[in-house]
Formats: sequence, C-alpha cells, structure tokens
Amino acid sequence: MRAGAPSGLTGREFEAIADHARSAYLRYSFTKGTEQEVRFLVSALGLRPGHRVLDVGCGPGRHSHALRRLGVESVGVDVSASFLAAAGEGRWVRGDARCLPFVQGSFDAAISLCQGGFGLLGGRGEEAVVAGMARAVRRGGKLAVSGFSAYFAVRHLEEADTFDADTGVNHEVATVKDPAGRDGSFGLWTTCFTPREMRLMAAAAGVEVTGLWSVSPGDYAARPPDLDHPEFLLVGEVVD
Ligand SMILES: C[S@@+](CC[C@H](N)C(=O)[O-])C[C@H]1O[C@@H](n2cnc3c(N)ncnc32)[C@H](O)[C@@H]1O
Repeated sequence: MRAGAPSGLTGREFEAIADHARSAYLRYSFTKGTEQEVRFLVSALGLRPGHRVLDVGCGPGRHSHALRRLGVESVGVDVSASFLAAAGEGRWVRGDARCLPFVQGSFDAAISLCQGGFGLLGGRGEEAVVAGMARAVRRGGKLAVSGFSAYFAVRHLEEADTFDADTGVNHEVATVKDPAGRDGSFGLWTTCFTPREMRLMAAAAGVEVTGLWSVSPGDYAARPPDLDHPEFLLVGEVVD
C-alpha cells in the first residue's frame, strides 16, 4: 500500500474494461443478485408500474431490464458504447454521468448502482453525478446511489492495492475476462465513501436522506452502516 493522489484520471477509465468485457461482465458473480436488488429498491423507492426511472451508469442494463419486467419504465445512461450494445433492447443514452442530458424533473426516480457512473470517477466529480440525478427527478421523487465503503476497503486492503488516504480512491490492477475467456489487465480506480460523505453530497443536491444502509451485491437490506459490508446504499427524496 502507498499513498499518493491519483493524477491524470478522466473519470472514464472504466470504458476500456467495458470494451474488453462486453457481455462477459454479466458472468461475474456480483451481477447475479439483480432480482433481489430490484425487489428491495421497488419497495424502498415506492416504485410502481408506469413510473420512469433513470439508471445512471447502467452498464449492460441489468437493473433497467429487471425494472421493465415489473412494468417500470427505465432509461439507462452509460459512458460505454460496448456495454450499451450488450444491453440489447431498451432505452439507452451514451453519456457521462457528470453531465446528464435530461429535462429537469422528468423522472420519478434515479438509481446508480454497483459504482455505476458514481463510484468509478477517481474523485473527479461525484458531487456532479448526485446533483444531476436529483435535477432529473421530480420533487418528491426518489434517489438510490451505492458507493464502495471506505471502511471495508481499508479493512480488506490487498497488498497490491493503492489506497489514497486523501481522496479515498483505491487503485488496483483488475484482471478481466472477455466473452471468449481471455484475460486482460486494467487499472481500476474505485472511489470509496463514508456514510457521512454520502449524506453531505445528498444534502448539497437537495436530497433528504431516508436511508443509508450497508449492503452487498444481491443482499440489499435496511441494515445500519457497519464495517463488514462492501457498499453503502443511500436512498433519499428530492426536496428542493
Ligand atoms: C461496475 S459497472 C455497474 C453497471 C451497472 N450499474 C450494474 O450494476 O451492473 C460501472 C458502470 O459505470 C459506468 N461508468 C463509469 N464511468 C462513467 C461515467 N463517467 N459516466 C457514465 N457511466 C460511467 C461504466 O461504463 C459501467 O457500465
């Protein structure tokens, strides 16, 4: 482990990983809990058939697809053309989560899950993502954002990881498989958060936090923040 602020990052580093992984992304075990995650979110966000949800950093669209199966409309936005191509049928927009191109108040809810669009920016504009999501949602609408836990990251730091104590960004070299099973090596910068940081970001975006929970992929639950789960899930209501 070394300290040292990441430099030269653009916040679009994940694109190269997505270009390599494409549909193979959906073979990774952490994507297998989609139905449980969506069931939890439907209840936590009060989603009903006909509601419109913005899925920020949607990847190949697994949450959007699951929402649509429940009658909830979804528009996915992602920086990766490869992931959007892998997403298949649906409504997808290629774009950067930091400048969301949607009419103000045009969604009933916005989600950004599994670091999607929010947690892979390497400290380059996470606040803008939350603010843009809140802007796209009508007053009284809901937000759900997951971010990697800084506590968990430090507690389980691996020898090859570089955790920058200043920005909370963890760097690792990730080995990723393509659809043919070939390995590629990529730098992966994950921004890690404390619950307090997430609450402050939400407040600055005019979002009243109604829940901030410790979760794992496929095990979303209203569980108080702890040191034992890899992600925090913030749920809130747009009040401004
Ligand atoms: C780990 S994947 C999660 C995808 C999806 N939300 C899921 O749960 O499977 C992270 C996603 O964030 C997207 N992403 C990374 N940086 C982004 C940015 N600056 N703007 C929009 N999307 C971004 C990546 O392309 C990728 O699809």
